[in-house]
Amino acid sequence: MPRYKIAWMPGDGIGKDVMDSARLVLDAMKFDAEYVPCDIGWEFWCKEGNALPDRTVKVLEGTTCALFGAITSKPQDDAKKELAPELKDKKLVYFSPIVKLRQLFNLHTNMRPCKSYPGNPLNYRGTQLANPSGTELMIDQVVFRENTEGMYGGVEFYPLPESVYEALCANPKMKPWKQKGLENVALSTRIVSKQGCTNICKQAFDFAAKVGRKRVTLVEKPNVLRETGGLMTRIFREVAKNYPAIRADEANIDAICMWMFKNPQDYDVIVAENMFGDIVSDLCAGLVGGLGFAPSANIGDKYAVFEPTHGSAPKYAGQYKVNPMAMLLTARMMFDWLGETDRSQRLESAIARVIKEGKVRTYDMGGKSSTMDVAKEVAKYAG
Ligand code: NAI
Ligand code: MG
Repeated sequence: MPRYKIAWMPGDGIGKDVMDSARLVLDAMKFDAEYVPCDIGWEFWCKEGNALPDRTVKVLEGTTCALFGAITSKPQDDAKKELAPELKDKKLVYFSPIVKLRQLFNLHTNMRPCKSYPGNPLNYRGTQLANPSGTELMIDQVVFRENTEGMYGGVEFYPLPESVYEALCANPKMKPWKQKGLENVALSTRIVSKQGCTNICKQAFDFAAKVGRKRVTLVEKPNVLRETGGLMTRIFREVAKNYPAIRADEANIDAICMWMFKNPQDYDVIVAENMFGDIVSDLCAGLVGGLGFAPSANIGDKYAVFEPTHGSAPKYAGQYKVNPMAMLLTARMMFDWLGETDRSQRLESAIARVIKEGKVRTYDMGGKSSTMDVAKEVAKYAG
């Protein structure tokens, strides 16, 4: 019997292309796994009214962890239009299956490493003043994003139920919206908990301590988001006290979007609430080559789902044109989580070598190679 049982979820669009590339490399590395294909994504919303069918959740429960490609999500009105005719009047509501997975399996930690590899023509070179020689800046950051709460917690209303509206109106700051009328107001909430904040801060510091990183930066906005941002900031400071050897500092989400471009090498481990983590990790990804180089892991206490940060990029779907590196770096994160340290190192070295040699490059790196050409080259060195 294979050692691991991996849920295999290509999902939509280029999710399939990049998952095929991962499979080629995993097979070349003789990874001892059984892969269990699972239904997830837009197709299942349209056909069944559920992008994450119950049968998929059941299968996941019997696996070691999951590899996931990408899904397509569309706004509610568009989602309704694409439902099968017999499902149209069933009042179904679309939800993102990956957000749902994170909540169902309590995958509280979203880890997003952003690391530059020498020779990538997309590596950030900073400004002329900061870096007069124009050499590539070597960046090695890891974002810890809270994955189940905050702005993406999914507690939203339109229209607002009467009871919610009334409760809100007890706050005098509601006056402007009260005047606009209930029917004209939409509400998305940002709910955070002490447990959620404590956990994500601990995860970030534990990681930093374990791998010998020197600095953890909290990205928040407590001067405006006084309650949620305030709670997160207080907890961050409290947790930091347990790690005296690690420098702990704070940045506002807007300010870091500027500082990151001016001084990217100042940042090391970054911790943030769900939406701010999403934003800042895309920014970090931009510095190391873009979405084609951004892996991620959704980690809980017992289960994990590994996925590249990018989406389904519909315009490239099925063309085997996109960069598989994000997906292959994602597979590497799976190796780390499984304790397959040797495989993890082999895969990363192979990826670094292929980038450095520059013989095969997908379009985003200025080349013409296909997704599978790149995967084959990585497999050649990793296998
Ligand atoms: P996207 O990430 O799918 O693509 C944006 C652009 O980034 C692409 O057009 C392409 O130019 C580039 N890109 C993405 N992946 C690449 C790769 N591996 N190699 C080279 N270039 C790459 O984001 P977009 O267009 O905003 O969203 C498309 C769909 O994906 C939407 O339905 C969105 O909701 C969904 N999405 C899903 C995510 C997930 O599955 N976790 C995350 C982000 C978006
Ligand atoms: Mg994102």
